[in-house]
Amino acid sequence: MSERSLVLVKPDGVSRGLVGEVISRIERKGLKLVALELRNVDRSLAEQHYAEHAERPFFGDLLEFITSGPVVALVVEGPRAAAAFRQLAGGTDPVEKAAPGSIRADFGLEVQFNLVHGSDSPESAEREVKLWFPDL
Ligand code: TYD
Ligand code: MG
Repeated sequence: MSERSLVLVKPDGVSRGLVGEVISRIERKGLKLVALELRNVDRSLAEQHYAEHAERPFFGDLLEFITSGPVVALVVEGPRAAAAFRQLAGGTDPVEKAAPGSIRADFGLEVQFNLVHGSDSPESAEREVKLWFPDL
């Protein structure tokens, strides 16, 4: 059974020139790219995307960061696509949680600047793919 997931290369990943690196890892894993777009994120999209974190103390900084520069939004497809990309990404904290060899462990230092987003479940993926790519 194939599944879709939303992936973002966040502003830090784009400005550091890591778009190709991330896409390369997605392709090598065997996930298929079904949408890809460089996009500026407005406040409304950012708030909807991160709605689950609205009450968290880091929410303001998170919105500020995700709207600070262009992101690359992708939809990937394959068996267990959401979990598969989360494995490539590594845990949220690039130093304390991300497994060695993951994107966040290899390139990140701080939780706030952890380079990529990946939907955390098939249900989140469905919501996020609709939000970012309503015509897909
Ligand atoms: P979360 O959904 O918990 O992590 P993930 O991206 O691994 O699904 O949090 C969303 C983003 O919010 C996370 O990628 C980075 C940021 N964040 C912070 O800045 N500080 C924090 O303490 C947490 C938990 C997240
Ligand atoms: Mg999350």
